[in-house]
Amino acid sequence: MIYTGKWDRSGLDYRALHNQWHVVARSSEVEKQKPLPVRLLGEDLVLWRGPAGINAWKDYCGHRGARLSLGCVRDGSIECPYHGWRYADSGRCVKVPAHPDQAPPQQRLVFPHRVIEHYGLVWVSLGHPPGDIPPFPEWKDPGFRKVYAGPYRYRANALRSVENFLDASHFPFVHANLNGDPDNPDPIADYEVTKDVHGLRTSEITVFQPYGDHRGIPVTAHYTYHVFQPTTAYFTKKTGVTERFCTFLNATPVDEDETALHLIVAVNFGAELTEAQILSRQDRVFEQDRKIVESQRPHRLPLDLREEMHVRSDRLAVEYRRWVKALGESAPAFDTGVIPDQPASADPTRSATYV
Ligand code: FES
Ligand SMILES: [Fe+2]
Repeated sequence: MIYTGKWDRSGLDYRALHNQWHVVARSSEVEKQKPLPVRLLGEDLVLWRGPAGINAWKDYCGHRGARLSLGCVRDGSIECPYHGWRYADSGRCVKVPAHPDQAPPQQRLVFPHRVIEHYGLVWVSLGHPPGDIPPFPEWKDPGFRKVYAGPYRYRANALRSVENFLDASHFPFVHANLNGDPDNPDPIADYEVTKDVHGLRTSEITVFQPYGDHRGIPVTAHYTYHVFQPTTAYFTKKTGVTERFCTFLNATPVDEDETALHLIVAVNFGAELTEAQILSRQDRVFEQDRKIVESQRPHRLPLDLREEMHVRSDRLAVEYRRWVKALGESAPAFDTGVIPDQPASADPTRSATYV
């Protein structure tokens, strides 16, 4: 009834993503009085702020199925736009305006998910996340300036988008004369990929970049990549003895073929440069990537390695696919019917209930 996405939810990719934390918005987007509709893994959700903090519920009112995000927040409750029923952030119905003298119904009429705010971002999990919000190593380091970039919206799959972020051998071609020289592309030396409870991590990958960062100067860049969960990836890029440019990327799987990329950049040099200078380079690079990632077929990342060709420079991508596949295989079974697919009258707790 409520799932309208395209994603085959029995797929290992979906299963790997169902339980993890996902960024769905920046905290600043969720205003006090105004519910915010967002979409995650093919499901419509509503974010709203109540007295106990932020809430992430299915965008659904159990009275007649209207979208709560079309309503408003009043007196600390969310008010459905259809008949004005109000729900407290406990999830309880607290008001039925047509029957002010009767107690509101006690049945489950709204469907909350886990939500947390961290790094100025709103994180939601549709399932049971196995761990905390992923680390952002420079977040508390005052020597690093933080700049939010994006969200960049791709008509593409989130795992394809993350794999693109983890791929150094595309630089001279997709980001020609910016991140690499198309007439003299760097060979990619063999590198290591290690896996532990924190995810994947590479050894350094070194490339020459004609316009290496927002300073507009050529650099020899040493990248170290981390993948903390399938859609949270990070690199630190060393371009001098102390200069570091880090990117914390979260790819929101809006649907099978739709992604929003939320980035936070952490940089410890170029304090005289404006935020606009940093963003203009980011915007340009992610627009160049967008065209390529949107062109990839099939949309979904093939987790069977035999489906595409791999060379040594693809080692991180190969390990990433193996890891996502293993996470999907080991994911606990989840209940796809939080809101039952059958008509509401088939639910004995909700049938013939007159308040
Ligand atoms: S549908 Fe929400 S109050 Fe009627
Ligand atoms: Fe790229």
